Formats: sequence, C-alpha cells, structure tokens
Amino acid sequence: MNFQKWLFRIALLLFSVVISLGLSRIVASESLEFPSNYQQDFVHYASVACPNSRIVRQIYANPIAISAAKENSPLPDGSVIVMETHSAVSDASGQLKPSRLNNVFIREKQSGFGIEHSENLRNGNWKYAWYSPTGSLVSSSEGSCLSCHTRVSDRDYIFTLPDLAIAAQTNQLQSRPTEFGLSVCN
Ligand code: HEC
Repeated sequence: MNFQKWLFRIALLLFSVVISLGLSRIVASESLEFPSNYQQDFVHYASVACPNSRIVRQIYANPIAISAAKENSPLPDGSVIVMETHSAVSDASGQLKPSRLNNVFIREKQSGFGIEHSENLRNGNWKYAWYSPTGSLVSSSEGSCLSCHTRVSDRDYIFTLPDLAIAAQTNQLQSRPTEFGLSVCN
C-alpha cells in the first residue's frame, strides 16, 4: 500500500473517532424523554407505601422490561421504568391511599448511557430524570439518584427488581411498604 493510502486511512480513522466521541457526548448530555403514554402502555407492577413520610410510590415498567422479567432475564437496552410519587392519606382501615401526584421519576437503560460517570457512581447503562406530573423536566441531575441506587447494584440498581419479576410472572400488582425505610424520591 502506498503512503497516500495510509494517510487517507489514518485520516478516516481519526474522523470516525471524533464523530463517535461527539455522538456519545450528545447521548450523555441529553435528558431522558418523558414517556407520555406510560399509564396506558406500561405495566403498573408495584405500589410501595412509605408510612413515615405518607407517600405512596406507583411503579410502571415498559413492555421490553416486562418481557425480560417474565423470563427472569436481565433487563435489556430499551427498558424504561417510571415511578410516580403521591402524597397519601390513611383510610378507615389505616391503609395509605394516594391523594395527589407530585413527581414522576424515570430511568432508562441504553448502551452508552452513564459513560460520563466514574466507575463507582455509574449505574451500568441506566440514566435517570425527574419530571413534574405534567411532563416538564424538574431535574436531569443524576448524582443523588446514582449514589443511592448503587446500594442495589446486585439487582441491576433497581430496588423493586424482585417485585418486577413476580408481577411479570403472575400479572399481579405487588403492594408493600418500603423495604429500605428511606425517605427518598418524595
Ligand atoms: C436515598 C435513596 C434514593 C435516591 C436519592 C433516589 N432513589 Fe429512586 N428509589 C429508591 C428506593 C428505596 C426505591 C424503591 C421504592 C421504595 O422502596 O420506596 C426507588 C425506586 C426508584 C424507581 C423505581 C424502580 C426501582 O429502582 O425500584 C425509579 C424509576 C427511581 N427510583 C428513580 C429515581 C430518580 C430519577 C432519582 C433521582 C432524581 C432517584 N430515584 C433517587 C431510593 C432512592
């Protein structure tokens, strides 16, 4: 091969490295889209009550996550989980009943997500965002989300992974008090 061909190949290689670095930056900096049809298209798999803070969390997973959970397989790229947090009041039997939707927390898995984070903070390929009930972005700052969810790195960073598996396999909504007693995601 002559010298000019070599130069051309090296230039092409450099060009593609620059382009792919640029693309991964864009993937890293864009915040997650609000999945506006989640109440129709996703499966409501868990309802978690936090008696101390009088909050109820309603958690939904998209069909990609549900099909994998049915097979006990790891959640693939394209999995999306939405968690609504509601203020709640006690009913006559002392059960917390949601009274007002306050926030919508979202997480999505895609290859390349999370590469901007250090290894000890990164939650695999998951990315997080916090939205208002009307779908406007409250915050795309992920620091606190990542550091708390690393506690369940053995569950693919998903606190409610066991509930997701049972709900996907039985078609039953899983309702329980919070397992961790954490006053979070209010
Ligand atoms: C201090 C810990 C903590 C922080 C900070 C936190 N979470 Fe969570 N998150 C939890 C716990 C615990 C659950 C499971 C529900 C429960 O037990 O209350 C949860 C559940 C979720 C779920 C449902 C899927 C799952 O993992 O079970 C989503 C989605 C979620 N959080 C998103 C977020 C986002 C977005 C942020 C940052 C804006 C965030 N979380 C910050 C502790 C935390």
